[in-house]
Amino acid sequence: MTSFPFDGIALGCDYNPEQWPRSVWPEDIALMQEAGVGFVTLGVFSWALLEPEPGRFDFGWFDEILGLLHEGGIAVDMATATAAPPPWLTAAHPEMLTVDEFGHTLWPGSRQSWCPSSPVFREHALRLVAEMARRYGEHPAVRLWHVSNELGCHNGRCWCDVSAAAFRAWLADRYGDVEKLNDTWGTAFWSQHYASFDEVLPPRITPAVPNPTHQLDFARFCSDELLDYHRAERDVLRDICPSVPVTTNFIISSHQSEQDYFSWAPDMDVIAQDHYLDHRLPHVHAEQAFTDDLTRGVAGGAPWLLMESATSAVNWQPVNIAKRPGELLLDSLRHVARGADAVAFFQWRASRAGGEKFHSALVPHAGRDSMKFREVVELGAALTAIGEVAGSHVVADVALLWDWNAWWACDLGSHPSAEVRYVDAVHRWHKAVTDAGATADVVSPSADLSGYKVVVVPTLYLVDDTLAPALAEVVARGGHVLVTYFSGIVDTCDHIRLGGYPGAFRELLGVRSEEFAPLAPGATVTLDDGGTADLWTELLTTAGAEVVASYTDGPLPGTPAVTRNGTAWYIATRLDEAATAALAERVLDEAGVTRTGSDGVEVVRRGKYVFVLNRSSTEAVVPVTGTELISGTAVAGSVSVAAGCAAVIRAAVIQEGT
Ligand code: GAL
Repeated sequence: MTSFPFDGIALGCDYNPEQWPRSVWPEDIALMQEAGVGFVTLGVFSWALLEPEPGRFDFGWFDEILGLLHEGGIAVDMATATAAPPPWLTAAHPEMLTVDEFGHTLWPGSRQSWCPSSPVFREHALRLVAEMARRYGEHPAVRLWHVSNELGCHNGRCWCDVSAAAFRAWLADRYGDVEKLNDTWGTAFWSQHYASFDEVLPPRITPAVPNPTHQLDFARFCSDELLDYHRAERDVLRDICPSVPVTTNFIISSHQSEQDYFSWAPDMDVIAQDHYLDHRLPHVHAEQAFTDDLTRGVAGGAPWLLMESATSAVNWQPVNIAKRPGELLLDSLRHVARGADAVAFFQWRASRAGGEKFHSALVPHAGRDSMKFREVVELGAALTAIGEVAGSHVVADVALLWDWNAWWACDLGSHPSAEVRYVDAVHRWHKAVTDAGATADVVSPSADLSGYKVVVVPTLYLVDDTLAPALAEVVARGGHVLVTYFSGIVDTCDHIRLGGYPGAFRELLGVRSEEFAPLAPGATVTLDDGGTADLWTELLTTAGAEVVASYTDGPLPGTPAVTRNGTAWYIATRLDEAATAALAERVLDEAGVTRTGSDGVEVVRRGKYVFVLNRSSTEAVVPVTGTELISGTAVAGSVSVAAGCAAVIRAAVIQEGT
């Protein structure tokens, strides 16, 4: 990865000037300067206006706005403008449209109307990319290229005939011999044996349960296919203007699982991520903290760029919750605390027309004279004040393992319980660790685990053969490993690891389970330490481990629910939130992890900088000595942070408990 493209902790936004008359543009620049906007993302959805007819380009208006931005001292993250093809292209080539698993075409009239495998789309898109690169690659305002937009948003998976052919080519490349595919997919089951790759289709709707490895490979193919598309645009850009770094904005979120971003990361010059609070979830800010920690994991610990977020409500949830006063600053600083070196938003000015006209922006419909714009100005000032934080690294004692392949496989159908959802399990344990006052890096199972005191492995259903030995090394050096139910069950082909559950981790955990006994929705069981649990139990016996807690009722009274084999813990059920929290605290304390903060008060360290984010309703007091950067005041011994407020302290000394 190259050096970060923007200065300090930059404030940025998507800018769509084509939605406004030219007379508004000078005011835009002036207001951007007032707010301290350091960069804008330009051109994301501009294709139809930049190339109004095939091969005829109109860059005049774009030159003009780029000139205004540059004169105004605002840098540009230049989109390649290929996210939404113009109507002339989809009209001429309907074969490039995406098709769903039922065979329905998804028609134009929205955005991202293109199949990731379409050669005709690629040809036209790369021609535009080359034009953009030639015209703007040397422009002094352009600091970063932004390939397409959120690759995979709306069109991450396509089941059309073009995709089918590309899938077959991907399979032939992966397996070489169709008999290898037959073994891997277990096609002896239900007469699914293939005589040739030509017989394979994408997993379209079937009368009964589809082959799970077929589904898993299709998920892998779809991720690879879009990465291949990214590389094609990136290569054009690098050929023409090699000095400008290239990225695309990832969508690492709890409702989007179609890209394996660990495999994408090495192709990015800087990791960029979009994040919107999801008010459909029970713990909205915990999810933000989790996603930020995962983004940092994808970035290998390096600072990353928050490319999009919302100043207030979005427009795409059933009820779009607005941010209350102060939340914009607090939520933005949470991203920075967890590794972001820029905070950007969709979008500069709230649209007058179109499908996103009720989405919040930096300049709301009410205009400059609004609480929102005043908060944006305040945020810009705060980010400027903490600019020296840029480049510092988050300090974490805990690793929590995350894997897209495991997500895809865990959430397939025909499992012991459809109630077991990978993301739920991961969120629950990440929240418990965070609320207990620790910081977790969310990393790939193949990451280097040597620096962590605790490694949490929530419901990691699919694992390769290297993970159990890596976890055994953590335990051997005195680190703690905490594994939860339905982990280590299958190999990377989604084949069961035989001999008893939890397959890959039996020896590490010193347990063996013969049968799963999931609980009906709403049913709970009681543990002999007073806790309760739901969702999952299993017929577990110890083989070296010590029993920490057992069931007193439910289908398996007297059976172990929580065990430990030295410092290797197994949680064979879904503990209630209080019991999860208590166990997390116990493990962190035994492992010697320093805990600061609590549920509602996040304390996160980036190098010598201590972030205190107080979401609670009471004042928080945190021990630290140094300088609070937003106010510029000295802090001696401890900092008091009012409810709903935040502080960023350059610590003179890192004290015990900080
Ligand atoms: C993102 C997208 C933006 C905008 C935003 C609204 O997914 O990249 O263009 O649509 O959502 O929340």
